[in-house]
Amino acid sequence: MTSVLRSVVTGVGGYLPERVVTNDDLAKFVDTSDEWIVERTGIRQRHQVADDQPVSDLAVAAARRALAAAGRTPDDVDLIIVATTTADLTFPSVATIVQRKLGCPVGIAFDVQAVCSGFVYALSVADGFTARGRSKCALVIGAETMTRLMDWTDRGTCVLFGDGAGAVVVEPMAGEGTTADRGLLGFALRADGTKQDLLYVDGGPSTNGQVGKLRMQGNQVFRHAVVNISEAVTAAAADAGIEIASVDWFVPHQANLRILQGVARRLGIDEHKVITTLDQHANTSAASIPLALDQGVRDGRIKPGQMLLLEAMGGGLTWGACVLRL
Ligand code: ACO
Repeated sequence: MTSVLRSVVTGVGGYLPERVVTNDDLAKFVDTSDEWIVERTGIRQRHQVADDQPVSDLAVAAARRALAAAGRTPDDVDLIIVATTTADLTFPSVATIVQRKLGCPVGIAFDVQAVCSGFVYALSVADGFTARGRSKCALVIGAETMTRLMDWTDRGTCVLFGDGAGAVVVEPMAGEGTTADRGLLGFALRADGTKQDLLYVDGGPSTNGQVGKLRMQGNQVFRHAVVNISEAVTAAAADAGIEIASVDWFVPHQANLRILQGVARRLGIDEHKVITTLDQHANTSAASIPLALDQGVRDGRIKPGQMLLLEAMGGGLTWGACVLRL
């Protein structure tokens, strides 16, 4: 067996803002109903940030929990990657703000912008450092305040999103180069910029100077989702050299229950192996996968040594999947 350096997830943490907004709360000011939202999406409630809460605060709270779970401190961290589409400021990155707030030493810190696919992209980027011995302790965070991008008069989008953050600690460990190794074992990342009009925000620093609001042709995005995600999952499994049937838990991006069920059906995945949080969290974009991972680990379903498959699709369009053994 050859000895290889693997990027191993050694700690997971999550944070959700205190304020809970139910479907009935939304129905008080937008023409919708709990029944419609639950039937079409599976969402029952979402968390929403306080007015004075920047996304970096969510990221810091999740990061502290992930570090504690890994038995590490901010002093150990030499790399911070934040996947977000809702930064505190146009610059600097959320990652450098997190570095300052946590009190980490000088190291590497930057954001990754791939919208809902951001966490999978960020894990792959982190792997490029950790598996080459260029980082000894990385924080990979997905953090979003998507409710700040909502047009609260658009019932087709404002009912779908929530706020939150999830984080993992990634550390290098020697493996044997087999699928029995712990660590990030395979990836498939995709982007198709020709589909921008299906899902975007109508503002930005280099166009109109505004933050903008999220615009989506939901049914068109839905149509691409099942096919695209299934292809990426299959490719990531092949990249890792595993059979999809050998995966213990699917930890998907939480956009719509019908998408999760469609992907599971297409790939022959037992629905009991799918971690679902969207009923409680709604779509938290780049935060949804690490939040779902945190939920599964904390409630004891996901155990060390198990094989996980993460997948996501979002604005860009971007999509991707990752195979990891915890
Ligand atoms: N309450 C009541 N009615 C509604 C609501 C609502 N909240 N939203 C839409 N409707 C209505 C529409 O107006 C439309 O009415 P009409 O027939 O009178 O015109 C009807 O419901 C059907 O609308 P559709 O958009 O066709 O509904 P659909 O079944 O496609 O569900 C949804 C919409 C939930 C948005 C779905 O398409 C979806 O989940 N799409 C994928 C979203 C996604 O995956 N996004 C990617 C990640 S997000 C990111 O990257 C930032």
